[in-house]
Amino acid sequence: MKIAPSILSADFANLARDIRLVETAGADLLHVDVMDGHFVPNLTFGPSMVAAIRPVTNLGLDVHLMVDDPSLWIPEFAKAGADTLMVHVEATPHIYGTMQAIRYAGCRAGVVLNPGTAVDTLQPLLPIVDQVLVMTVNPGFGGQQFLPDMAAKVAALAALRQTNGYHYAIEVDGGITDQTAPVVLEAGADILVAGSYVYASDDPAARIAALRRA
Ligand code: DX5
Ligand code: ZN
Repeated sequence: MKIAPSILSADFANLARDIRLVETAGADLLHVDVMDGHFVPNLTFGPSMVAAIRPVTNLGLDVHLMVDDPSLWIPEFAKAGADTLMVHVEATPHIYGTMQAIRYAGCRAGVVLNPGTAVDTLQPLLPIVDQVLVMTVNPGFGGQQFLPDMAAKVAALAALRQTNGYHYAIEVDGGITDQTAPVVLEAGADILVAGSYVYASDDPAARIAALRRA
């Protein structure tokens, strides 16, 4: 199991400190939520933020693009230092080509499913993706309630991987705590994104340890 704290809930005025804090506490990856104010009703970071973070940490940068026209941004985020680029299947009619473009740019390619999107939609992509991210909240904001029904998607993806010999990692994002982590881990999740649970706490290191025990 890997833990990917989301900097969406970090203190932006002390971002380098908050990144080092989770790295020291044993985080495996750093999750960066990119929002454009169109695909989701919130605005966050662009490629320059990824470039600024890159020299501050050795953690892999797990970049979650919640943007329309994602293919426009792939070369820039790759150049900025993203390790994995994840695009919503709902954000483009050209999701297959977008996965290819991410690989071509030298990054791991991930596809993301909104809560209302079925796993079936991904069937043609599963042989070529490195990661599948199952949203366990509606994207746009940290601190929302976990949607337990999404665990069935995680289980379906784990079964498809087993049956077909696929290699993607399964990640979950939204409302992950020490209480909800066991639900998705049991279903087969490999990577847990956690924003508010880790950062909206007096002791982020203790929260990472609690997830690790889950
Ligand atoms: C939501 C983002 C998440 C967010 C999760 O759109 O994709 O990564 O940071 O926050 P929590 O863990 O607070 O639900
Ligand atoms: Zn995210």
